[in-house]
Order: sequence, then structure tokens, then C-alpha cells
Amino acid sequence: MTLFPGVALVTGAASGIGRATAIAFAVDGCRRIAICDRDLPGLEATRALIIDIKREDADVDVEMEVEVLQVDILKEDDIERMVRMTVRRWGRVDYAVNAAGIIGNNAPSTSTSSAQFDLVTNINYRGCWLSSRAELAQMVGQEVLPSHDGRPGERGSVVNIASQLGVVGRPNAPAYCASKAAVIGMTRCDAIDTDEEQYSKHNIRVNCVCPGVIATPMTQGDAVFRKALEPAIDIAPMQRMGTAQEIADACLFLCSSKASFVQGHALVVDGGYVIN
Ligand SMILES: NC(=O)c1ccc[n+]([C@@H]2O[C@H](COP(=O)([O-])OP(=O)(O)OC[C@H]3O[C@@H](n4cnc5c(N)ncnc54)[C@H](O)[C@@H]3O)[C@@H](O)[C@H]2O)c1
Repeated sequence: MTLFPGVALVTGAASGIGRATAIAFAVDGCRRIAICDRDLPGLEATRALIIDIKREDADVDVEMEVEVLQVDILKEDDIERMVRMTVRRWGRVDYAVNAAGIIGNNAPSTSTSSAQFDLVTNINYRGCWLSSRAELAQMVGQEVLPSHDGRPGERGSVVNIASQLGVVGRPNAPAYCASKAAVIGMTRCDAIDTDEEQYSKHNIRVNCVCPGVIATPMTQGDAVFRKALEPAIDIAPMQRMGTAQEIADACLFLCSSKASFVQGHALVVDGGYVIN
């Protein structure tokens, strides 16, 4: 029996952590997955990878359904449409992982323009907030999905991707670090809101994952930036980059009913970087 009988929605699914998370849902038996990103060719490649998993799995006789949604999370209308289209097809959203994001401009504040600051903030923080807001609004109104073992079921689970750099600082990253600290703060506040319209008492959980340095196109693309990351890798006790799969695993745990008592948590997955 799969831990994921419901509907998954993943932003940033054209690349890196988002792609690995969408694929991990499929591997773990989720059969209805909305993959969302502004990069349409990247989404088509993710879709093909998911469909390939199904072909290799002889035990699966249920049709895999993948909804490809081109979405720019800078645009509120796109995000509202993203959730609307997912619900139009499958009636609900059970597991939402908000992974779309960009790296910062790699400069101190006095060398950062307000336009650079706004871009990082508007994608990493505002876009994540708009996404989780739309997902939560849907989850509040949907029926509870039973759990895998009879513990109380849930209306939904949101996982926002923050960063180890939302927990600690690093040189040349004020805009990025602030955007990720904001995601952690937002996650905690959504998790503790308990008014009539709010989430915890509706059996909705909101958590975030704080990745360390992970080998994805974000960190591997630029040789100068790769070099700049070396000290951060050396500081962490495990002294290596993490993989996108290792972050996807944390996301799936938090989405699953095995994490039914985990609420408002910022799960750091960084090889020990922040404890050093
Ligand atoms: N790679 C790391 O070391 C690392 C560490 C900590 C946190 N993170 C966070 O993890 C998340 C995923 O990063 P990744 O490493 O997979 O990077 P990535 O560049 O491989 O993937 C990011 C995805 O987000 C999408 N995206 C960016 N802006 C968008 C927008 N406006 N609308 C829609 N989609 C948009 C991109 O098209 C891309 O597919 C990001 O939020 C990033 O900040 C990454």
C-alpha cells in the first residue's frame, strides 16, 4: 500500500530538488502528480522521467497521471490557476511541495540593487507564500484523506523549501538568506494559526525543509560559484554535497501520514552544516 494515495503538487519541478521530489512521489506510488514550473521543456523532461518509471514497474497496473502546468510564481494569477487546474482534474491537493526558487545575486547589501533584492524576495518568499496560500485555501475545504494505519487522517500537507541559509548567514547572501528565513517564519506561523478558518485544527500540516549545499543545476551551473561553495561544504561534518534525492526523501516523509505529529517544523538536511 502506498503512503501517497492522494494528489501531489510540486513547484520547481522542472529541475533539481523539485524534479527529484516529483519523481520520488511517483516511485513511492503516488499516481496523480501536478508538476509546475516556468520552464516548460524542463517540465516535459520531468514528465517523461515519471512516465518511464511506470513502464519499468511491472507491478503497477494503475495509470500514472501527470499534469504539466507552466507557472511563473512571480504571478499571483498563475499560482491561483495552478491550484485550480489541479483541482479541476483530480478534485483535491494532498501533498504540496513548494520548491521553485532562485539563488541570490551573491553580493553584500551595498552591492545589491533594490531590483535584485526584489527579484530574490518575490520568487523565494512571496512566490512561496502565494503558492502555500492557494494550496492551504484548497485543503481547508476538502475531505480528510485516511491515513495508512488508522491514525487520524489529514486534509493536506504543505512542505516549503527554505534553506540552511534561512537558519544561519553566509557572506554575500543577505537577500537570499533573508528570503529563506522568511519562508521558515511563514511556515511556523501558518502551522500555529488555529482560528476558525485556519489549518492545524483542520488536520493540515505545514512544514519546511532546509537543504544544505545540494548538487543541482542551481549550484553546479557556474564554475566561480561552485568554487565559492567549497568552504561551505568543508565546514559541514559530512564534507560533501547532498543529493536532490536526499531532499526529496525529507519532503516525502513530511508529506506522508508517518509525519502526522510533525507541525511547523524546519527540517535541516545539510550534513551537519548548521551545528558546526
Ligand atoms: N541546491 C541547493 O544547494 C539548495 C540549498 C538550499 C535551498 N535550495 C532551494 O531549493 C529549491 C530548489 O532549488 P534547486 O537547487 O533544485 O534549483 P534548480 O535551479 O535546479 O531548480 C529551481 C527550479 O525553480 C524554477 N523557478 C525559478 N523561478 C521560478 C518562477 N518565477 N516561477 C516558476 N518556477 C521558477 C526553475 O525554473 C527551476 O526549475 C530552491 O527554492 C532553492 O532556493 C537549494
